[in-house]
Amino acid sequence: MGRQRGVGDGAALTLDKLGVPKDREGRERYVREMFDSISHRYDLLNRLLSFGQDVLWRKAAAALACGDGVERVLDVATGTGDLALEVARRLGSRGRVVGVDFALGMMRVGLAKIEREGMAARVRMVGGNGLALPFGDGAFDAATTAFAARNVADLPGFFRELRRVVRPGGRVVCLELSHPSPALWRWLYELYFYHAVPRIGRLFIGRSGPYEYLPGSLTDFPDPVRLASVMAAAGLSRVRYRLELGGIAAIHVGEVPQPADG
Ligand SMILES: C[S@@+](CC[C@H](N)C(=O)[O-])C[C@H]1O[C@@H](n2cnc3c(N)ncnc32)[C@H](O)[C@@H]1O
Repeated sequence: MGRQRGVGDGAALTLDKLGVPKDREGRERYVREMFDSISHRYDLLNRLLSFGQDVLWRKAAAALACGDGVERVLDVATGTGDLALEVARRLGSRGRVVGVDFALGMMRVGLAKIEREGMAARVRMVGGNGLALPFGDGAFDAATTAFAARNVADLPGFFRELRRVVRPGGRVVCLELSHPSPALWRWLYELYFYHAVPRIGRLFIGRSGPYEYLPGSLTDFPDPVRLASVMAAAGLSRVRYRLELGGIAAIHVGEVPQPADG
């Protein structure tokens, strides 16, 4: 059920063609160094390239994560902390959020925002790998992750880890870019995403690489139906998703089964 290539011909950019290492260690080093190298421009480019939509998508993801009885939330691959902060704002003073990431430069930008917002008592940043989280089983009421799944070397393993650290009955919420399906919308979107975005990125960071990687990381990423089945295979139940802006992004939600669910 791979995605059809060709419309807008954006799909020509792949991680293989960009020379991203295939082995886990090499890929993680590449991803970590790349995000650290753009950390100073990351938030600005997110707002610009998504026309501010990323903010609304994170708000929607935070709302889906913060149901009744949710107080402790882990934001995996938190980067500059925007989703962690959004979750903390939504939880209010009862909430405690931990953001975990392996790119320390990204987290440094996040820490400055946390300080500026006076949220240091509620949001903590921890260095760590999403594929081997430094937390015990069931330590959190919910886990969130935004724009990270495309970057991990082992997608099933990533969701198994998210599932592991959430208590039974808790939610795992994944916000990620996706593949719009209406043909005309997809064609327009791919023209923008695969052709304009790399140019705008180059303009702002002064070199090519990261903003070729961004569309390249989407090309072979599973469509929403397949992503839902990856999450279900990782042991999450009642997996569902909603599409944002005609499928440019998708928010998936899965639940950690209660023992009685089998
Ligand atoms: C596109 S950024 C998303 C940041 C943030 N979640 C947001 O909403 O803007 C992807 C982040 O995932 C992190 N990342 C990728 N793979 C990771 C892994 N295996 N463990 C921890 N962090 C990872 C990168 O360091 C980067 O900060």
